[in-house]
Amino acid sequence: MLRLYSISNYGIMVFKMEWRNILEISDGVYWVGVKDWDRRLFDSLIPLPKGTSYNAYLVIGDNWKVLVDTVNPGFEAELHSRISRIIDPEEIDYIVMNHAEPDHAGAIPYLMRINDKAKLVTTPRGAKMAQTYYSVDEKRIVTVTDQERISIGGKTLRFIEAPMLHWPETMFTYLEEDGILFSCDFFGSHLAAGFFDDEVEDLLVHAQRYWGEIMMPFRSMGGKALEKIKDLNIRVIAPSHGPIHRNIRRILDAYQGWVRGDTKSKASIIYVSMWRHTESMIQLAAETLMAEGVNVAIYNLTVSDIGDLVKDLVDSRAIVIGAPTVLGGAHPLAVYASYLIKALRPPLRYMLLLSSYGWGGGAIRHLRGILEGTGSEIVGSIEVNGPPSADDMNRIIELSRTLAQKIKGGE
Ligand code: FEO
Repeated sequence: MLRLYSISNYGIMVFKMEWRNILEISDGVYWVGVKDWDRRLFDSLIPLPKGTSYNAYLVIGDNWKVLVDTVNPGFEAELHSRISRIIDPEEIDYIVMNHAEPDHAGAIPYLMRINDKAKLVTTPRGAKMAQTYYSVDEKRIVTVTDQERISIGGKTLRFIEAPMLHWPETMFTYLEEDGILFSCDFFGSHLAAGFFDDEVEDLLVHAQRYWGEIMMPFRSMGGKALEKIKDLNIRVIAPSHGPIHRNIRRILDAYQGWVRGDTKSKASIIYVSMWRHTESMIQLAAETLMAEGVNVAIYNLTVSDIGDLVKDLVDSRAIVIGAPTVLGGAHPLAVYASYLIKALRPPLRYMLLLSSYGWGGGAIRHLRGILEGTGSEIVGSIEVNGPPSADDMNRIIELSRTLAQKIKGGE
């Protein structure tokens, strides 16, 4: 059941005359979050071309009123205003903290200040973080363990520990009677637009990008979490970023593939070039791979959104990296991208490295040093002085064909 209200607010303090939408996603269960349309960077690292949302949910039981997660610091007033359309925020009995990162827990100090009866519900690890990050009094924290339940009157909250998705304290909250899984970052996407998954045409593209940026380093923990929730009667998945999934099969199937590390006959190709010599090598490699039937996604690192690249790393079987030598090492943009690849642990099986240098090499050695330990096979590398010669170009074609065979054989 979907009901969308716009109710004028003649509320308190700074909230005068505001209008707030309230989304009821099930009987007594409301979205009371915030759309951050203008945010363009997360963690001082991740570009947000479509903004993001901080989804918070209000659950009204016969006996207790519960807020599941809060919002980013700076949006306390908007959260307050939206909750006020349903209840006075001072009536909240429990605030569930599925995750301690400030984009979801940042309004906890405000809410606990204006409401001195509210208790914080979180994991034991979350309890420590709540004290460290938000100075929450230990006496106001209720710790819950895996599968523990709290009845709030006609509704039951079940807590499911989901560590390292993507912090140690993370958990999900499952509302049993309504079949709603509040999964915090898991199943999320950085999108301000859309309340529900079917309202966003390319939702899976954004979800894949989000998976690559946030969850991909923790694939095995993601697999364990999917196993834990597989027998729940989930009707709706309500994450803390992006649209709510009311077509849960689509996102669950995508996540199954991502946690397994399923890859396609596809290569991500990233490069930086100073005098177009490395670029000409990369273009030949890309054309050869395409001629051999491999899909490619090409990123010039000087102009690319690193989030787009990460999205393609999620299902690429190989990567080709092109970088010139600068001051005895690889170009800094290629160093940055390679470091990111190593940190995010995409399921790449093969790598190819290409480089041109002016008077002394070093880029390939540098990149190999960064990428060692990733578990991917470096199929080959070619480092040339200045513009590639005809012989160099033939070598690139041969090596690219070898890479293509490996990619196509690696189903
Ligand atoms: Fe969206 Fe890990 O916070």
